[in-house]
Amino acid sequence: MKSESCQTDTDRRDGVPVHLPILSEKPLPVGALGVSAGPLIDGLARRIRYVRISLTDRCNYRCTYCMPDEGIELAPRADVLSFEELEATVRALQTVGVERVRLTGGEPTVRKDLIELVTRLGRLGLQDLALSTNGERLAELALPLRRAGLHRLNVSVDTLKPDRFAQVTRRGNLANVLAGLDAARAAGFAYTKLNCVAMRGFNDDELGALCRYAWDRDMIPRFIELMPMAEGQLFYPGTFLSVAEQRKILTAELGPLLSDAPDAESALPGVGPARYALVRYAGSLRKVGLISAVSEPFCDTCNRVRLSATGQLHACLAYDDAIDLRRVLRSGLVGDALLDRLVQAARGGLSDKRASHVFSESGCGGPRKHMVSIGG
Ligand code: GTP
Ligand code: 5AD
Ligand code: SF4
Repeated sequence: MKSESCQTDTDRRDGVPVHLPILSEKPLPVGALGVSAGPLIDGLARRIRYVRISLTDRCNYRCTYCMPDEGIELAPRADVLSFEELEATVRALQTVGVERVRLTGGEPTVRKDLIELVTRLGRLGLQDLALSTNGERLAELALPLRRAGLHRLNVSVDTLKPDRFAQVTRRGNLANVLAGLDAARAAGFAYTKLNCVAMRGFNDDELGALCRYAWDRDMIPRFIELMPMAEGQLFYPGTFLSVAEQRKILTAELGPLLSDAPDAESALPGVGPARYALVRYAGSLRKVGLISAVSEPFCDTCNRVRLSATGQLHACLAYDDAIDLRRVLRSGLVGDALLDRLVQAARGGLSDKRASHVFSESGCGGPRKHMVSIGG
C-alpha cells in the first residue's frame, strides 16, 4: 500500500510524466550524433552496453508486487513494436556497442511467435541474448528457444511452496514452473538464474531452501529487494527485506558468505545489477546474487536502457520519462538512415539519464508506471 508519507511522487517535473524531446525540431543531419559518433555514453560517462526489451505489457500472472489483480490498462496493439521494428532497434543499438539484449515483459512468452523473434535476433551475432520469464510456459518453450539461439534464461521463483506460489502470483502454478526449469536444463541452458523477490513474512524462511534447490540443479539463486513501482501502490513497507537482512538469513542458514567477489561476478554471464557472494555447499563454492536497488543502489555502474513494448526508451527504471523511438521507427526512414536516426534519438535521451533513483524503504520514489509495463 502506498505509504502516507510519500510526497507527491515521482513528480520531479511538475507532477506530469516527463517525455524528453525525441529530436530537435530541425533534425540533425544523418551521422551528426548517430552511428558514427562512437559508443553510447550517458551524460555521466556511463557506457551503455545492455538493453532490456519488453515484448508485451501483458502477463499470464498477477504477482502482487508487480501488477494489480484487475490488470493494468494495456497499450493498444497497434502501438506495440513489430518484429521488424524490434530488430531495427537492436541493430541500431548494436552499431554503438550495445551487444547484450534481454527480452522481458510483462511476460515475454505470451508474445505471439516469440520463437520467430528470437530466431531473428539470434542471427545478429549478439554477445548475449537472454530472456526473463515467469516460467509458466517454459516446459514447452525451453527447447525451441534454445534452438532459436537464446543464450540464457532468468526465471522468477519466489517460493517453493505451491500455496504461497499461488498466493503471490495469483494465477501461477508452481509445478509448471519447476517442470519448465527441468526442461531448460534438459535443453542445455546453463547458468540459469532463479529470481526471488525476498519479502519479510512471506518467503524469508525459504531463502536457504531456494539456494539449495538452485545449486542442486547448477542454477544461480538471486534475491531481489522489493522495489516501490507504481508510486508504491503495490509496496507493503512491512514486507521490505533489505539485502543486509537477507545476508544475515543466508549466513545463518548456509554458513558464511565468503565475499562479494568481483571476480565471482565477472565469471558469471550477466550484466545486470546483482552482486554475487560465494557460499560453500556440498564441497564446492556456489554463487548467490543479491539485487539491492533500494538499500544499496548500484546506479553508478548502470550500463543499461530499457525499451517498452510500444517503443519508449527509458533511461532509468525508476522514472517515467522516455524517448519515443516508435515515432522514429514509423517515420518512413529505412536502412542506415533509420539506424542513424534511432541512435541519435537514443543519445538525446541518454544525455539526461539520471544519476540515480530515489527508491526508499518506505515505498516512495517509484515511477508512476507498473513494473509489468516497464519490464524490470
Ligand atoms: P543478468 O544479465 O542475468 O544479470 O540479468 P538481470 O539481473 O539484468 O535481469 P533480470 O530480468 O533477471 O532482473 C533481475 C532484477 O533486477 C529485476 O527485479 C529487475 O527489475 C532488476 N533490475 C534490472 N536492471 C535494473 C536497474 O537498472 N535498476 C533497478 N532498480 N533494478 C533493475
Ligand atoms: N520489485 C522487485 N522486483 C520485481 N519484479 C517485479 N516487480 C518487482 C518489484 N516491485 C521482478 C520479478 C522478476 C524480475 C524481472 O522483476 O519478480 O523476477
Ligand atoms: Fe507477470 Fe513477472 Fe509481473 Fe509476475 S513479476 S505479474 S510474472 S510480469
